Amino acid sequence: MPPNGSGATNGSTETDQTLTTRQGHPITDNQNTRTVGRRGPATLENYAFIEKITHFDRERVPERVVHARGAGAHGYFEAYGTAGDEPISQYTRAKLFGQKGKQTPVFVRFSSVIHGGHSPETLRDPRGFAVKFYTEDGNWDLVGNNLKVFFIRDAMKFPDLVHAFKPDPVTNIQSGERIFDFICNTPEAMHMITFLFSPWGIPANYRQMQGSGVNTYKWVNEAGEAVLVKYHWEPKHGIRNLTQAEAEQIQAKNFNHATQDLFDAIEQGNYPEWELCVQIMSDDEHPELDFDPLDDTKIWPTDQFPFLPVGKMVLNRNPQNYFAEVEQVAFGTGVLVDGLEFSDDKMLQGRTLSYSDTQRYRVGANYLQLPINAPKKRVATNQRDGQMAYNVDMALGQNPRVNYEPSILGGLQEAPKSGADYTPRYDANLVRQKIDRQNNFKQAGERFRAFEDWERDDLITNLVNTLKPADKRIQEKMVELFSQCDEEYGRRVREGLQSAQSPQQTSGPIGSAHTDEAVRQAKEQSH
Ligand code: HEM
Repeated sequence: MPPNGSGATNGSTETDQTLTTRQGHPITDNQNTRTVGRRGPATLENYAFIEKITHFDRERVPERVVHARGAGAHGYFEAYGTAGDEPISQYTRAKLFGQKGKQTPVFVRFSSVIHGGHSPETLRDPRGFAVKFYTEDGNWDLVGNNLKVFFIRDAMKFPDLVHAFKPDPVTNIQSGERIFDFICNTPEAMHMITFLFSPWGIPANYRQMQGSGVNTYKWVNEAGEAVLVKYHWEPKHGIRNLTQAEAEQIQAKNFNHATQDLFDAIEQGNYPEWELCVQIMSDDEHPELDFDPLDDTKIWPTDQFPFLPVGKMVLNRNPQNYFAEVEQVAFGTGVLVDGLEFSDDKMLQGRTLSYSDTQRYRVGANYLQLPINAPKKRVATNQRDGQMAYNVDMALGQNPRVNYEPSILGGLQEAPKSGADYTPRYDANLVRQKIDRQNNFKQAGERFRAFEDWERDDLITNLVNTLKPADKRIQEKMVELFSQCDEEYGRRVREGLQSAQSPQQTSGPIGSAHTDEAVRQAKEQSH
């Protein structure tokens, strides 16, 4: 009789491939539950069955509240040792950058933002581009997107922005009306909207898209001096975007195309590669600019702030297990190493609270002990216990009874400082105020004019298709905002809306023209 009715034996014939329970009991029958007679009833002491079913019941963890759909890969970052023509040490003492040819392992997760874990990868949405660098000084996460700007500049507005883009809480269908109801009251979003509704809102795949840190960070050198910095990933294989029509064709046949493209390219040894470039500004308010350097709705003009290459990244290994690596990986904007710093960008500071907060809920209090999240260097903390504690992160030779600091009984000690402290000074009133120099329309207008004709045409069509079922007041406010960016931009959207038929409802991907017709046909067929 097997112990606990588990279908197990003591296993003298056990091999390396033998199926076991999580308790290590070999399983001899994985097909039949233990029952009284052939026709049941089942018994409750059947450990192997109960372990199997109850674990299955718990297989899902909460998916990410945003960026749920993703794909990931391992690789390395290789430093150039310079930022453009200058030694990089002039700007940052971060060790991963300093030495030419130095390699740091990385894990990257690409994603779309709004819809769930198995949603089509052809949807109009920003794409996430998050990189975890396992450096000798601990982890650095650069959590970016493909586009270089964002919809809002204050973290206070983020939950509202996401609610407006997520499906309607009543119908569970994404709605252009709800999106533009929010956007027509958010003029700082015009630059991002102009990108998002153009072909740049549907990258063709993950390998051929740019990445950007979007927010402004700082670098600090050995002397404790800081500069403002923006990060950009430039794909070696070029940039490729899709029109709405091209995306719909792909979606009809394959809704995992970007994940598949990444996986297959790596399997075939066609390794995706990006160059990391930075833009640098002195650490002050820059009153000579018509925008604030801490405003993430703006691009820093490259003629004044050129892209300086600092290294390259190659992805050369697929994950072995999607859940353990891609689903459980946890990135955060607060995860920086010595020589890298925050700026006072209000979005960045809000983000920094949000990431580790959600990960303690989504993955669990000990999420940093999972192999994908743990640094590849020594970890020694006095943090203990909590759900699913796997390691006691102690130093070799540490007195196991001393889990506090300071102590003279063999506990952990503080590290010596490396380089001078960076000590910015603040002298201002505590307020709730918008930033000066908002300049919400200029760069959006420049972007509209810089697009090629086919990109501009696609932008107008996608906006008109998404806005046409919306309330007239929302349409009018949007036309007014587009006109402030560029007279032609507003005029073309207005003309498009005037000539479009106005269906009552839309229910397909934003930007799509065919959805109402498709829904009507489906309804007819079902009657
Ligand atoms: C994921 C919050 C803005 C890029 C997430 C997640 C949260 C979040 C809660 C889920 C994280 C997880 O479950 O592991 C916020 C807040 C923002 C903000 C509060 C603004 C205040 C941005 C911006 C970018 C960005 C501006 C682009 C620069 C990403 C990426 C991911 C992500 C790439 C997915 C990371 C992954 O692959 O695991 N964000 N976010 N977010 N966010 Fe943000």
